[in-house]
Amino acid sequence: MKENGNPYKPEIATVEDTWYETYGDRCIKTLKVVLDDEKARESWGHRPGQCAMIGVLGVGESMISISCSPTEGKFLRFSVMRMGKVTQALHELEPGDKMTVRGPYGNSFPVEEWKGKNILTIGGGIGQAPLRPIIEYVKANRGDYGKLTLIYGARTSGDLCFKGEFEGLNACSDINYHLSIDVQEEGWPHYVGFVPSLLMDVNPSPENTIAITCGPPIMIRFVLENLKKLNFADEQIYTTLENRMKCGFGKCGRCNVGGLYVCKDGPVFSYDTLKNVPEAFA
Ligand SMILES: Cc1cc2nc3c(=O)[nH]c(=O)nc-3n(C[C@H](O)[C@H](O)[C@H](O)COP(=O)(O)OP(=O)(O)OC[C@H]3O[C@@H](n4cnc5c(N)ncnc54)[C@H](O)[C@@H]3O)c2cc1C
Ligand code: FES
Repeated sequence: MKENGNPYKPEIATVEDTWYETYGDRCIKTLKVVLDDEKARESWGHRPGQCAMIGVLGVGESMISISCSPTEGKFLRFSVMRMGKVTQALHELEPGDKMTVRGPYGNSFPVEEWKGKNILTIGGGIGQAPLRPIIEYVKANRGDYGKLTLIYGARTSGDLCFKGEFEGLNACSDINYHLSIDVQEEGWPHYVGFVPSLLMDVNPSPENTIAITCGPPIMIRFVLENLKKLNFADEQIYTTLENRMKCGFGKCGRCNVGGLYVCKDGPVFSYDTLKNVPEAFA
């Protein structure tokens, strides 16, 4: 957390670019953002898996995953699903508009510990947002990691985020991706079915592999069950939690799950930690 006296004091940032990932009622818009203060920009230093409180002055703030890797440059990306008051206001922002950012908050994926391992990501819907930074980080540090396998699904092809980024990955022999949608659409060349079934179809080996899953709680529950069927050990499985938050740094008690503060002890957890916290996947 940045030390600027008042921990609630945000940085002012400028929206540099925006684009829609998905359309419809709960559409997802990505904001590419640059902190205005040069010193704050230089010292920001987030790690894959962390999040930030972003907001619109006079409206409020929401906790959102930072959906870019620090290896991509001195900017931030947030992919925001329109849910209510704050996310609606964030969706109304256009290039040149000002917004607020405070953070980065939470722990991160232990990328140093994972060196030399194969990385398997399993995402559903907007759950691909916290996975994107780890994917970009592994791509940028390719020599440090083994095979990279991406499994990602959404209800329809129109609900898949970051679609353009999957094309081109097939050119890399040690990166594979597998996409799914729930119901067949004309011309869809990939899997049809739910993400946990796609996982069984891909049948990844647990050997020297870390599996990271983010998505709706129901998907995560079945993915965890299937990872166990595939003989992944609890310590090889990671996920992120998204409990509602207020302060973001362990003061307000809003985000507890069991004895854990999601904002401080998470949002990244190993299944080894979460398996004894039944509320985690409620
Ligand atoms: C660590 C973390 C990371 C997150 N990352 C992202 C992200 O990358 N992209 C993104 O779009 N959203 C993310 N969220 C969820 C996001 O914070 C909420 O959707 C947002 O705060 C809603 O604010 P609002 O004022 O627009 O809606 P509100 O008016 O507050 O709520 C609208 C509806 O959304 C539901 N809701 C609000 N917050 C949550 C939540 N945390 N979980 C489930 N339902 C919720 C409410 O119950 C209500 O039904 C994340 C949350 C956390 C805690
Ligand atoms: S959000 Fe305040 S304690 Fe976690």
